[in-house]
Amino acid sequence: MPVSLVTASYLGATILFILSLGGLSNPETAKRGNWYGIVGMAIAVLATVFGYRALMAGDQPIVTGNGYAFIVGAMVVGGAVGLWAARTVKMTQMPELVAIMHSLVGFAACTIGFASYIDTSTVFPTHAEHVVHVLEIYIGVLIGAVTFTGSVIAFGKLSARIGGKPVLLPGRHWLNLAGLLIVIVCGYWFLSAESIAAGMLPLIVMTVISLAFGVHMVMAIGGADMPVVISMLNSYSGWAAAATGFMLSNDLLIVVGALVGSSGAILSYIMCRAMNRNFIAVIAGGFGAAEGAAAKKSGEPVGEVTPISAAETAELLRDSKSVIIVPGYGMAVAQAQHAVFEMTKALREMGVNVRFGIHPVAGRMPGHMNVLLAEAKVPYDIVLEMDELNDDFPSTDVAMVIGANDIVNPAAQEDPTSPIAGMPVLEVWKAKTSIVMKRSMASGYAGIDNPLFYKENNRMLFGDAKKMLEEVIAALKAK
Ligand code: TAP
Repeated sequence: MPVSLVTASYLGATILFILSLGGLSNPETAKRGNWYGIVGMAIAVLATVFGYRALMAGDQPIVTGNGYAFIVGAMVVGGAVGLWAARTVKMTQMPELVAIMHSLVGFAACTIGFASYIDTSTVFPTHAEHVVHVLEIYIGVLIGAVTFTGSVIAFGKLSARIGGKPVLLPGRHWLNLAGLLIVIVCGYWFLSAESIAAGMLPLIVMTVISLAFGVHMVMAIGGADMPVVISMLNSYSGWAAAATGFMLSNDLLIVVGALVGSSGAILSYIMCRAMNRNFIAVIAGGFGAAEGAAAKKSGEPVGEVTPISAAETAELLRDSKSVIIVPGYGMAVAQAQHAVFEMTKALREMGVNVRFGIHPVAGRMPGHMNVLLAEAKVPYDIVLEMDELNDDFPSTDVAMVIGANDIVNPAAQEDPTSPIAGMPVLEVWKAKTSIVMKRSMASGYAGIDNPLFYKENNRMLFGDAKKMLEEVIAALKAK
């Protein structure tokens, strides 16, 4: 494949990736967006594997000799693992899968950085070009190492293998500052190294510090800030890919990395806004720490709750004019979205105005609830963002919380010492009656108690969300 065709293919793939991102931003066009991405990636891989690149000595194939055998072998193994993961990973494990995938991008950036450094096959015509190349390597390995260990820790936290509470080392900001200074000094040492052997030590020292920083940064972040961390690591993985593109002089990788990096950065901003958090404060960590705050132990009852049965719930719903459903992580765990749709359909047929209120950080990944509701064919026009309907709760008869907890916690507004103080929440307690459907009094992801449960107008419908919804639907249809 001549260089000109490779360039044209890269351009086509870039356009397809941009269309893909555009498509994925809306549930109605998400499937199409996914296909754009698949086709774009297929073109990108084919053009890279079979293409030529322009070098000083003339155009040469990008992959040569045994390279094809390695690539086919790696693609078979990687494809098999990917296929297995796609088939076996549950929807609720998706965020963990995304986190561990980000770690692979970081790992690849690190290893490619080291490989580029010891590769002497590319000759740079000027000293300046050589310096730029080693600088690309240094920055690429740095971002890659932070992304790698940060994502592994995020994976551990999301899959509950590591506790959600922030781990705060004494003098942690000083430790980070010392690490940064060493990385800068090593950078100078690396850039001025006369030989590969001389540059290897500062490169290794910087890599070790970056790996440790990735662990330290994410360990210090409290449960409630994890949504920002996920999108931030998403962004880092993009910048790591872009840095790899610079090292390999691959324009497509630079563009794709920049697309992922900037969209992840925008998502981080949206997440910060949704949680009323400052980005720097998130990185500094500690949000949700038990220290000083009134973080009560999970499930620790602080009042009386009023239980309600499925039949009574059906009665209340039937008598309502307006109902707002607030889904959360528990709906995903119970896979209750189809039952939610059935109940919505039954209520709408009875003339009840049913709407959904979606919190930006509901569930465990951005858009988690929207994806599930779209899969269950809930009409898009009744699925609203938190800001669009938060003022409507006072005129709502029943607010039905299905497997949600932190996103409806009034402590965010009422208790300035709460670890989630200031985070915007869905004000379900302002409805005439709120019903919380969950299995026990256990806390949510942030690990804090929820005063909503003890409010006078709140009822608790204890049980698995899917099972309870089926009972409610049966009771609704019985009359
Ligand atoms: P959570 O606060 O985690 O609460 C979910 C509730 O669902 C739990 O209290 C649990 O109570 C209940 N539940 C679990 N399984 C259930 C089942 N089978 N049937 C019924 N209920 C079930 O969820 P949320 O309100 O959606 O809030 C999201 C939290 O996750 C926020 O703190 C957010 O910061 C964090 N987070 C979000 C993201 C993103 S990007 N969305 C990423 C990481 C973390 P029981 O055990 O008593 O049933």
